[in-house]
Amino acid sequence: CGIVGYIGRRDVAPLLLEGLQRLEYRGYDSAGVVITGKSGDLRTVKAKGRVRDLEARIPKRFAGTTGIAHTRWATHGAPSDENAHPHLDGDSKVAVVHNGIIDNASELRAKLTADGVVFTSETDTEVLAHLIGRSEAETLEKKVSEALRAIEGTYGLAVLHKDFPDRIVAARNGSPVVLGIGEKEMFVASDVAALVAHTRQVVTLADGEMATLKSDDFRTYTTEGSRTTATPTTVEWEAESYDMGGHDTYMHKEIVEQVEAVDRVLRGRIDDRFATVRLGGLNLEPGEARRVRRIKILGCGTSYHAGQIGAQLIEELARIPADAEPASEFRYRDPVVDPDTLYVAVSQSGETYDVLAAVQELKRKGARVLGVVNVVGSAIAREADGGVYVHAGPEVCVVSTKCFTNTVVAFALLALHLGRIRDLSVSDGRRIIEGLRRLPGQIDEILKAESEIKALAKDFATARSMLFIGRVRGYPVAREASLKLKEVSYIHAEAYPASELKHGPLALVEPSMPTVAIVPDDELLEKNRAALEEIKARSGRILAVAHQEQEKADHTIVVPKNEHELDPILMGIPLQLFAYHTALALGRDIDKPRNLAKSVTVE
Ligand code: G6P
Repeated sequence: CGIVGYIGRRDVAPLLLEGLQRLEYRGYDSAGVVITGKSGDLRTVKAKGRVRDLEARIPKRFAGTTGIAHTRWATHGAPSDENAHPHLDGDSKVAVVHNGIIDNASELRAKLTADGVVFTSETDTEVLAHLIGRSEAETLEKKVSEALRAIEGTYGLAVLHKDFPDRIVAARNGSPVVLGIGEKEMFVASDVAALVAHTRQVVTLADGEMATLKSDDFRTYTTEGSRTTATPTTVEWEAESYDMGGHDTYMHKEIVEQVEAVDRVLRGRIDDRFATVRLGGLNLEPGEARRVRRIKILGCGTSYHAGQIGAQLIEELARIPADAEPASEFRYRDPVVDPDTLYVAVSQSGETYDVLAAVQELKRKGARVLGVVNVVGSAIAREADGGVYVHAGPEVCVVSTKCFTNTVVAFALLALHLGRIRDLSVSDGRRIIEGLRRLPGQIDEILKAESEIKALAKDFATARSMLFIGRVRGYPVAREASLKLKEVSYIHAEAYPASELKHGPLALVEPSMPTVAIVPDDELLEKNRAALEEIKARSGRILAVAHQEQEKADHTIVVPKNEHELDPILMGIPLQLFAYHTALALGRDIDKPRNLAKSVTVE
């Protein structure tokens, strides 16, 4: 799941361990490191568990200036010392760390076993180590590309070879690889988080691209061997933004950071003169935008929910029919790709495989795809025809909070832009702009209610299951709040449109099954109140998030009112704190919930 490599003059083991620690947030179950030792031999240490377990196993004398390391999230084979990367060939000449999945691994394994190769792990990656080890090509680069031609699947990888101690070879296909360019030292990683403490000059590899890193030089080329141009870019995120900054968890830090984050996504984009916004990277001429007849938004998890609110904003402000769908469902149902539809891919990481695969399929069929992405230069951002960067800054906690909010605000900007070149009036444009400007201050106000929310969360943490309800604008808010609670507290939660309550879930309502209700002060207020009555009549406990005290609710968290269209942005925020404090009360591993990973770059 995480790769770090280094070649230079410094002692490599501490650098690799520190890099792995910076990738811990992505979720993993084992870790390992390999270095070129003083004698020229490859020296490997692996451990099931955390990076600190690996660290504890590293011998006193473990000196070297070249090495690669990995944190693994089990796919083929259970978490264990043996299955942890790096994987070596039979002669211990080749070491490989790999993210991704090799689809034809069992076939290749059978062939190699028939040839007398002895496998020491159950992983698909070990196949690669043997293939590279057995290649008779002259250079390491050619050995690696020969092995890559034999496999089918996805990879981001780094390779060391005993006979080529002056280099690391890396390759990418479907799983991220970035090079960090330093002063007489080079880094390779699966995520800039692992290297920004040392250099902010990076090169992101494209699919089908490989790289050779030497301490004072690097080059990139295709798997077929033709040179590619790689100009380093500067990462805008500071190393400090990956630190916890005095908070106990990244989740808490990132919730609190939303005040500044929202300010950042708005900065420099508002055009008061024409009551609109400027989106420099959109790459969509007004003429083209006016011809769009439909908008289809694709994402996974929290990003999908942000897309649902985005679709609503687009329908409300631009009056273009829009909807959101999980990217994986979309790509497997053989969708009709329509030339008049604008497709929008949403992703915090910009690397989620299901979203990337959907984008690639769409592009193959000639569709126009925009990206709403947080990580600059990520695969989805590069694959899209244009888009809107979310500028949330690095998000480390596995569950997404600030990036969700910023993504929704980015959609509000896109909707406003589309609205103003179509039918939205100047005064409505101004009204939305004023609303957007109020958001950071209002978020700050919501965060002041933390101790009240904490007390409520403690109280609700004993529930085994909760219902989340909302209507129209409130429904995706309910869905995201329910997902947040599930992910981080492991309490079962289910979101339902309030209007559907009577068609089923009402059967579940009893005193031990609380309901969280999203009740904005909009045209549906009375209807939402009726839903609360229905629940109360069945002795259900109610926590309402509303713009005014709700008489039928046992507790109301009152949030500041914005424009109707923008209310969903604010109403979810207290429920992020609610999920956080529920998980805290239950002693959960908040930043790294069990079984989850920050970005899923495999299918
Ligand atoms: C994983 C994470 C979720 C996230 C989803 C999409 O499942 O655990 O928190 O929402 O991926 O990630 P993306 O980077 O594409 O937004």
